[in-house]
Amino acid sequence: MNATVQPAPTVTLLNGVAMPQLGLGTWPMDDTQAARAVASALDLGYRLIDTAENYRNEAGVGAGIRQSGVSRDQIFVTTKFNREWHSVDGVKQACEASLSRLGVDYIDLLLIHWPNPAQDRYVDAFHGLTRLLESGVVRAIGTSNFKVTHLQRLLDQGLVPHVNQIQLDPYHLRDDVVALHNAHGIVTETWSPLGRGGEMLADPAITAVAERHGRTPAQVVLRWQTQSGYVPAPKSSDPTRQAQNLNVFDFELSADEMAALNALNRPDPKMMDADVFGH
Ligand code: A2P
Repeated sequence: MNATVQPAPTVTLLNGVAMPQLGLGTWPMDDTQAARAVASALDLGYRLIDTAENYRNEAGVGAGIRQSGVSRDQIFVTTKFNREWHSVDGVKQACEASLSRLGVDYIDLLLIHWPNPAQDRYVDAFHGLTRLLESGVVRAIGTSNFKVTHLQRLLDQGLVPHVNQIQLDPYHLRDDVVALHNAHGIVTETWSPLGRGGEMLADPAITAVAERHGRTPAQVVLRWQTQSGYVPAPKSSDPTRQAQNLNVFDFELSADEMAALNALNRPDPKMMDADVFGH
């Protein structure tokens, strides 16, 4: 049996809903991998699971939820839909399809996966989300990969996402988007918060802090994320790493250590641009 870790604290969304401050990312797991990883994470103490229509693993996520010993009302399930559903009625259909694949009767947080500005229908999609929120089939609504111009267009019409989930890590600070979130009470959720487990975790600025605290580089990065007020969703299929990644709420980085990680920001020409990329 897995040793459980202290659950993550929660952040409060604009509509009062409590969202766990750290969750399990599930891209690029298939159904079988997702079922195993989700069951293991929930048994360890995770209470937020992040999936998407586009990951093609919602059925596996649902199976993992049922395999775990954790009741549905203790779990915060997030999913996202693709651009073909960017209309009021389309979002309703996308939600029904996700509910069916997941095998649940409500979704905690439903997100527009990419803005797809060339298609120019994300405002309609957001109106669809507000209808679902009113009906109670989703508890919170939001966006993913929205840049400042996309969010501003919603905000100008009085439409405020509860959450915007973006790529953000010490190499990708996203200051402009985060400032807009903070000005409007939008929670910043982060994907690939560990920089996809790549070279960033070997950065000497990060390993030095890790050694000082007797923690792993991944734990330092996730502590930096949560201490900055973000909600990271690191992906790991490995129960030992899952436990390590959740176990970041019992130590603190100093202001100097936070500044050292904030100084790592750099341009990334390979970063996906939501004005161009989307599905
Ligand atoms: P694995 O699933 O084998 O643990 P991100 O969430 O930033 O996209 O990062 C995911 C990648 O980082 C995966 O390849 C994952 O591999 C790896 N990873 C997850 N947790 C850790 C950890 N604690 N230490 C090192 N690598 C990790």
